[in-house]
Amino acid sequence: MPTPLESLTIKPQNQKTPKRPFVLGIETSCDETAAAVVSADKQILAHRILSQVEDHAAYGGVVPEIAARQHISNLDHLLEGVLGDCHMGLKDIDAVAATTGPGLVGGLMVGVMTAKALARAAGKPFISVNHLEGHALTARLSNHIPFPYLLLLVSGGHCQLLSVQGVGRYRRLGTTIDDAVGEAFDKTAKLLGLSYPGGPSVEKAALQGDEDRFKLPKPLLNKPGCDFSFSGLKTAVRRTAEACAAERGALYPDDRADICASFQKTVSICLVNRLKRAMALFRETAGDGPLPLVVAGGVAANAYLRRDITKAAEEENFTFHAPPPGLCTDNGAMIAWAGLERFIADPDIDDKDTSPRARWPLDSDAAALVGKGKKGAKS
Ligand code: KG4
Ligand code: ZN
Repeated sequence: MPTPLESLTIKPQNQKTPKRPFVLGIETSCDETAAAVVSADKQILAHRILSQVEDHAAYGGVVPEIAARQHISNLDHLLEGVLGDCHMGLKDIDAVAATTGPGLVGGLMVGVMTAKALARAAGKPFISVNHLEGHALTARLSNHIPFPYLLLLVSGGHCQLLSVQGVGRYRRLGTTIDDAVGEAFDKTAKLLGLSYPGGPSVEKAALQGDEDRFKLPKPLLNKPGCDFSFSGLKTAVRRTAEACAAERGALYPDDRADICASFQKTVSICLVNRLKRAMALFRETAGDGPLPLVVAGGVAANAYLRRDITKAAEEENFTFHAPPPGLCTDNGAMIAWAGLERFIADPDIDDKDTSPRARWPLDSDAAALVGKGKKGAKS
């Protein structure tokens, strides 16, 4: 269950007076009910996340119907708590932002309808936020990164390389042609009988394993372009686990750890390979000097991957930036911050006539990819 971001939760009375505007952000696109208030000078004034991990654990993945019901049960109480934490009422908030897509429509509707109702009641603007833009801009809240930067967005629903030029200005350099990388972690964990969500379980099991024991396929390695593919890797994990179980009568913890370590190493090699190609593309327009690389999304919480990507960045004269792990996975601060950036860019903004969208690519000019898996729902 995510822990509250104690270190990032800054109470106004202990700090310099926060600078307006203040934006309340609501996130309900998947299995976290989250809300936060942020200020223009990058203070997170209040921040709460309610994880539904336990409600979905028995199913090994998120059940949309359960997720929507839980958001309904929890959101109003959570919002009361967030406003109480920063000693604010709705009248003190300058705008209300909510994730409008991509994501599970039932959950999105809960967040969007609540946010619109609050905004209307308080006479404040509602700001529609793309969940991917929330991940994409978080590093500007936590790490103060100026535009432009290269972004590797790795989460349960996405695996994309983007050139981030400004608020609302993204160019997709690469994306997955099948599974998202977090999805590959989750499916690997499920296959091996590890707990949900899979990423942290696989990372933990891998610590005890031999990463060189199993040779797994590296889809698209050294191929032209910057796209990713992970579905073949997942199939290979299943075959390897079945072979281990057949040999010893059951899947033992040492085999499981070796599979996790080999899987994680293979994912890392694939990510770094595609990332280096995107770095070369990004450099063509961004120039010679050290250039910023931002890694965001839930999978960016993985310490092993962070280490390898940091090394790749050093080799290519990029500087590595990633939000703290608690701001990599879904949270309300990233939505509040993206809303605030949009509000500052356009003080007359009001999106009350927008509706939730299951699909909403960041770069609408990029060619659509046909595929399966969560990518379809969240890209
Ligand atoms: O960004 P996020 O919270 O939700 C989406 O927008 O999808 O990402 C969740 C994904 C899950 O697939 C989860 O298994 C993965 O991020 N994840 C990790 C780690 N922590 C979360 N993957 C690998 N290692 C981790 N430590
Ligand atoms: Zn996310």
